[in-house]
Amino acid sequence: MTYVVVENCIKCKYMDCVEVCPVDCFYEGENMLVIHPDECIDCGVCEPECPAEAIKPDTEPGLETWMSLNAEYAKSWPNISVKKEGPADAKEHDGKPGKMAFFSANAGEGD
Ligand code: SF4
Ligand code: F3S
Repeated sequence: MTYVVVENCIKCKYMDCVEVCPVDCFYEGENMLVIHPDECIDCGVCEPECPAEAIKPDTEPGLETWMSLNAEYAKSWPNISVKKEGPADAKEHDGKPGKMAFFSANAGEGD
């Protein structure tokens, strides 16, 4: 089992999650983060910390797309363990449907 970052992180990218992860297993893309499934110790601490409710346990049904996306991009995006300033318009995008259309495969800057 692992925890997974899902669609609502896109363009919200609040980064509260990185501050609490005991094993620093978040990786940064241009407009969202992912969790490395082999590094996550399933502690669950990050799930309630995300203001966008964008972190789910992989035991929830229907997360296959996001499990693959987290696993794939955790290999190439840089590690992030320190919260930075997020997008100024994060609140406008919180909860909007169809955010996958805005997914960017570009890497973030990391710590
Ligand atoms: Fe990190 Fe725990 Fe969240 Fe996994 S469940 S990403 S180990 S805080
Ligand atoms: Fe994304 Fe939530 Fe973390 S919006 S960056 S998973 S705090």
